[in-house]
Amino acid sequence: MKFVFSSFLVLLAALQSATAQGIDCVATCVDDVCTFTAKVNLYAGELGYFTFEECGGIRSPTLGIELGKTYRFVQADRTNYYHPLGFAYFPDGAHADKDELEPSIVPPGSSSTCNTTETCPAPKYFQDGVYLGDWMHQDTSIDSTGDFGLDHYEPKFFHPLGDWLGYGAFEVQLTFDVDDFAQDLFYFCHIHEFMTGRIKLMNEAGEPLVAENIPALEYTYDEVDAFDETCGTFNTSSYRLPDGEFAGQCPERFVCETAESRFLQSDGNTSSPLQAFSTCLDAMNCAMMVGMTTHATSPIGLFIHQMIPHHQNAVNMAKALLKTGGMGACEDLTNEEDPNCIMEYMMYEIINNQNHQIQTMRAVLETLQEPAYADCVVTAGHDHDEEVTGSDDALANETSTNGEGTGSSGAWTLGHSLFTVLVAALWILA
Ligand SMILES: *[C@@H]1O[C@H](CO)[C@@H](O)[C@H](O)[C@H]1NC(C)=O
Ligand SMILES: *[C@@H]1O[C@H](CO)[C@@H](O)[C@H](O)[C@H]1NC(C)=O
Ligand SMILES: *[C@@H]1O[C@H](CO)[C@@H](O)[C@H](O)[C@H]1NC(C)=O
Ligand SMILES: *[C@@H]1O[C@H](CO)[C@@H](O)[C@H](O)[C@H]1NC(C)=O
Repeated sequence: MKFVFSSFLVLLAALQSATAQGIDCVATCVDDVCTFTAKVNLYAGELGYFTFEECGGIRSPTLGIELGKTYRFVQADRTNYYHPLGFAYFPDGAHADKDELEPSIVPPGSSSTCNTTETCPAPKYFQDGVYLGDWMHQDTSIDSTGDFGLDHYEPKFFHPLGDWLGYGAFEVQLTFDVDDFAQDLFYFCHIHEFMTGRIKLMNEAGEPLVAENIPALEYTYDEVDAFDETCGTFNTSSYRLPDGEFAGQCPERFVCETAESRFLQSDGNTSSPLQAFSTCLDAMNCAMMVGMTTHATSPIGLFIHQMIPHHQNAVNMAKALLKTGGMGACEDLTNEEDPNCIMEYMMYEIINNQNHQIQTMRAVLETLQEPAYADCVVTAGHDHDEEVTGSDDALANETSTNGEGTGSSGAWTLGHSLFTVLVAALWILA
């Protein structure tokens, strides 16, 4: 008991100091080589977030790395597909037009002259145990073109999943050795923005060299509520049928069995995959339908405003099938005989590919100075001659003629009006 209690105190102290220092976890080290095993939790937000085996399930954990030690970031797990790791001095690196770790980039604020010899800290990229570059960091005796392998690593993450899996384990190594650098570093995904996480430099005792978190992360991570958590989806719970906030803009159901008959079909087991997946589908399809009533801003704008909800739905469908569909395990994703493998393979392609296209389309809207959202409100089952984007009065009248829709309550009208006001405000702001 005494032993257990003192262990508990030690654990508590360790946890407290970890919290105070803001470092979520450290790598597993054997001699001088330390390893972080990267994965992506695709369900943790719209795009998913990095996790590391050494850090349990924490999404986008703050990692601690020791000055001068070599860290391996292993990207062998299949969830890393489409997520090549990068390292930068600011959140999201090049996505945010900020400096990444490169041989000739002096860490901001440092007095180092490493840029003159191309010996500044930079990652080295490996595939199947083979270094893909020729730059050797401090070893300047080797004739180098300054290539640290990224240009051979990143493109392979766009290849078909089967090819990517066949290339062998991907891995990035980083040794940070500039000792008068007084900020944090960031890992990020070279393909998707907004998946960054912090790295704090530590001394040998595991204490951070800089206590404060600088530079700041200028966005917040997505939060997933209980409904989306169950489904594996993002941003669908206000569209739950029949009583989600925006359910009134949707048909009564998309999956024709009612929740009750699904329930009967599945032997009264509410957590049966068919029951769970159908409930998720109803909500995400409603989200898509609501998202797909948009203003016509321009041909490209209209395409994008209509296509993003489509893509989001494809991503949500794929995540929900993987999470709630009760599919059998697939050992070898390239097995073209096993329906579980064929579908899991396809789900990874849909999720990663379409999320990437969504980000590309959002960037096009920004370049064209078009609004990110151009939603308008159209109720389900309305008379086709009516103008429905107008006032609350018209909306109130809609409620009574909303035969096919399910919402009939005051909450529906209120939610609906709030939604209209929100959309109008976004429209005016944009
Ligand atoms: C190296 O970086 C410093 C700033 O840290 C800059 O003043 C200098 O011009 C750079 N030298 C080279 C060769 O890039
Ligand atoms: C209900 O279905 C789930 C998922 O298939 C299964 O794990 C669970 O054991 C079932 N429960 C009952 C009571 O049959
Ligand atoms: C959720 O979707 C709605 C459109 O259906 C959008 O207005 C809102 O910004 C989304 N929320 C997040 C957090 O992406
Ligand atoms: C709403 O319905 C009432 C009665 O049916 C009608 O008098 C009124 O003009 C309608 N309002 C709108 C904005 O359509």
